[in-house]
Amino acid sequence: KGQTMWGGRFAATPSDIMEDINASLDIDRRMASEDIAGSRAHADMLAEMGIISAEDNEAIQGGLDAITEELKAGTFPFRRELEDIHMNVEARLKELIGEPAGRLHTARSRNDQVVTDFRLWTRGALDEASLLVAGLQAALVKRAGEHTETIMPGFTHLQTAQPVTLGHHLLAYVEMLERDRSRLLDCAERLNECPLGSAALAGTGFPIDRDMTADALGFARPMANSLDAVSARDFALEALAALSIAATHLSRLAEEIVLWTSAQFGFAQLTDAWSTGSSIMPQKRNPDAAELIRAKASLITGLYAALQGAVKALPLAYAKDLQDDKRLTFEAFDTYNLCIQAMTGMIDTIGFKPENMRAAAAKGFSTATDLADWLVRELGLPFRDAHHVTGTLVAKAEEKGCDLADLSLAEMQAVHGGITDAVFGVLTVEASASSRTSYGATSPVRVAEQVAQWKQRLRLE
Ligand code: ARG
Repeated sequence: KGQTMWGGRFAATPSDIMEDINASLDIDRRMASEDIAGSRAHADMLAEMGIISAEDNEAIQGGLDAITEELKAGTFPFRRELEDIHMNVEARLKELIGEPAGRLHTARSRNDQVVTDFRLWTRGALDEASLLVAGLQAALVKRAGEHTETIMPGFTHLQTAQPVTLGHHLLAYVEMLERDRSRLLDCAERLNECPLGSAALAGTGFPIDRDMTADALGFARPMANSLDAVSARDFALEALAALSIAATHLSRLAEEIVLWTSAQFGFAQLTDAWSTGSSIMPQKRNPDAAELIRAKASLITGLYAALQGAVKALPLAYAKDLQDDKRLTFEAFDTYNLCIQAMTGMIDTIGFKPENMRAAAAKGFSTATDLADWLVRELGLPFRDAHHVTGTLVAKAEEKGCDLADLSLAEMQAVHGGITDAVFGVLTVEASASSRTSYGATSPVRVAEQVAQWKQRLRLE
């Protein structure tokens, strides 16, 4: 077992279990390229400021080139006893270039180094996730465009409420996803300040130029307080909170897929690629991916809670509790990215069943509101009275076991003498949906407009 990097004052190496609990390499090796980018910027700055020589910087940059190659080729010798990616890279640099490697850590600590890497990684992950969100939006908009006129029941309390169009329903998710995307991008913008140069916690006496490193790494500016810089993890918390909300939206859509593909709803069918069978029941076509998305949404919320718990009572500045931030954050992004890709695949290919949707929309007296509105518009009834008259007619239809439109004019007139034949014009589900033309409403005309706008916003076609 080799000497640890901080071994100067220690006579013995850590116990195996100590190594197990302390090592983060298996997790943070994902930040290798960010770590190298941070070291490059730092070394360039040290040379520029005359803190290390130009020759040393050249040797360091050359060594980091070689390490980049090794990482790409899969030949980089990862060593768990060196704890984390930072010390692995530095130790390898020492092997490759010798003495100048030891100068790289001047005016730097692992505390500012790790959080610089982590901010860089999270910034990239937020961009990647936001692109995946746009991909699902595109899939939903496309399907919505195919179904601007498809009638389905709209629900409240999962009870039939009013007819809506499928396109309108799908676009509701596009709106949610847009807010998800903007939360992710907001977070990426807010986190974009550079902790590098804060050193362990108090800053450094070396004449460093923090604007230079911030700039080189694409940060908007250096963080203004070194204690804050090494301690703050609200950028990760914010990312996980945004992911948790975004995953909640995926879960709601997943739940609808589960419902819609059931025999009882019969609104949709998943393709073979997105279904699984049962080992005993041959008829089964299970929506496993949707169910897993439902469960994994809670996992993401749990990862947020775990990180919040790790940070909430931590005195300034760095403590090792903060090492676990990456495990939680990586898992949240991995999980979300997997879920949203599965959802995009399902939405791309799911087969809707418009006839079944329409039939369901016509059940449950879904046009009762249209009848009440007609009484207000045509007969001048106060809405409350119209509501009462309609309620009486619904009770009558229910008693007869028929739809509202199946009541005879005479039966209607027995409840309110003013009703005419024209009322039947508003009792179909198509008429109901088409009549709702207010801004944001469900009519095919409005939905087609929204689809066109979304296609433009997302630069589709
Ligand atoms: N692997 C550590 C982490 O991820 C790096 C920082 C270590 N700093 C320290 N003071 N022990 O947090």
